[in-house]
Amino acid sequence: MGELPAPESPYDILGGADAVRRLTEAFYDAMEAHEPALAAIHQTDAEGRIKPEVRQRFGLFLVGWLGGPQDYSARYGHPRLRMRHARVRVGVEMRDAWVRSMTRAMDACGVEGQVRRFLDARFSEVATFLMNVEE
Ligand code: HEM
Repeated sequence: MGELPAPESPYDILGGADAVRRLTEAFYDAMEAHEPALAAIHQTDAEGRIKPEVRQRFGLFLVGWLGGPQDYSARYGHPRLRMRHARVRVGVEMRDAWVRSMTRAMDACGVEGQVRRFLDARFSEVATFLMNVEE
């Protein structure tokens, strides 16, 4: 009996590391262009752009979270997202701004079909889970 093929992860379906990197860049570019209040709570450089380190850490997290190599956890430990967001006030406005930025990024990268429906649902679920203030 042959082995069953491993099911494809969202990471594979999107197109691997380069595709996830492009999605990450598109996400922060959309945030900078359209969601100034959300961009402003991130670490920025002298020109007011979200720092490359921030983009890089989130990109590495996304790779693992989507089912690719687990380099984020190897380097930074368990994501513990709620703990890592404790210093930011996440209310409805910020949650919605975050989700809009990711929606724009997925639009820009042509993420469609079943993987898009899956990610739309998962991203809003996690963003809602990270809310830590009532507004
Ligand atoms: C709900 C609205 C959200 C807000 C307002 C928010 C805000 C932030 C901020 C301000 C940072 C710190 C960046 C810096 O160091 O300057 C951050 C980091 C991060 N966020 Fe979010 N975030 C949100 C949702 C999410 C979601 C839904 C995910 C996962 C799907 C996520 C994953 C991460 C990760 C992995 C980091 C990097 C943590 C680290 O290694 O330091 N965030 N976020």
